[in-house]
Amino acid sequence: GIAMIVLGVESSCDETGLALYDTEGGLLAHALHSQIAMHQEYGGVVPELASRDHIRRAIPLLQQVLEQAKLPRTGIDAIAFTQGPGLAGALLVGASVACGLGMALNKPVLGIHHLEGHLLSPLLASKPPEFPFIALLVSGGHTQLMRVDGVGQYTLLGETLDDAAGEAFDKSAKLLGLSYPGGPAISRLAEFGDPAAYTFPRPMLHSKDLNFSFSGLKTSVLTVVKQTAANSANICEQDKANIARGFVDAIVDVLVAKCVTAMKQSGLKRLVIAGGVGANQQLRAALNAAAAKKRFQVFYPELEFCTDNGAMIAFAGAMRLKKNPAAATFDYAFNV
Ligand code: KG4
Ligand code: ZN
Repeated sequence: GIAMIVLGVESSCDETGLALYDTEGGLLAHALHSQIAMHQEYGGVVPELASRDHIRRAIPLLQQVLEQAKLPRTGIDAIAFTQGPGLAGALLVGASVACGLGMALNKPVLGIHHLEGHLLSPLLASKPPEFPFIALLVSGGHTQLMRVDGVGQYTLLGETLDDAAGEAFDKSAKLLGLSYPGGPAISRLAEFGDPAAYTFPRPMLHSKDLNFSFSGLKTSVLTVVKQTAANSANICEQDKANIARGFVDAIVDVLVAKCVTAMKQSGLKRLVIAGGVGANQQLRAALNAAAAKKRFQVFYPELEFCTDNGAMIAFAGAMRLKKNPAAATFDYAFNV
């Protein structure tokens, strides 16, 4: 195929990510600005603030990746941006930057589905998995098991019927008074917890399908927090850690069990983890143990590419264009 340098633009939520991916030379540069600190005092992402911050950050980050790669603007062959799903105002910033640049440089522009970016992100690792594989996509907005036979060949095997895994992490963390985003915080706290103190329900653990449900888990956490607080006026640090541990053990158990079932049902030998919750160390340890026992391989994205980033969008765009050079067009449907 022809060599191409693709610019990736991610702005679907609270991370502005820019990256340059070379179909011959791999990832040339990537830069990210996280808005976490800005949203923290509100306990979650404030859409209007997110949009405005993307506006401030996008062009400086673009200049940064061009400098990193020592590439003039005109060296960009195509532009991929996150088309959705995400916050409309936030997405609009990335779409405008990408399309404006494409228009100015007379280069093709391609909208990428955010989840496809996550799904393909493990392929950016130094030892990428081959197709076909099973993918567990665990982000703040989605929890899905997919069969991936190639770029664009995705079969949904199961998904959450209510909250996403990351959402369960964030909401339960909030109930424990931890700051946003709660996933990493509750995971760290759980390390100090007694696993025998609380046992939370494992929703849908024994259902034969590959669907998930996590909203009940959050309700159980709420109930226990209320009971504990009622008993001791103020919930102490050790109680918090114990609850965190009970929560993490429950969610990890369900995620691992469904992955094992998917591997068994598909007969495939490669499992790929993608999305923010894929950064979770307890989940990784449990998956590694299950993989060793059940004799399949498990692949993870680099830690920095688990959560939202521009590299996965540049990469997904490059893979799409490699498969079909006509994939990019200015006539995209802005479907959020
Ligand atoms: O993929 P992502 O960056 O954004 C979405 O597309 O949603 O995922 C963000 C989610 C948040 O819910 C966050 O709490 C969770 O990933 N997360 C974690 C960890 N790091 C991020 N959850 C558990 N453990 C972590 N270490
Ligand atoms: Zn994401």
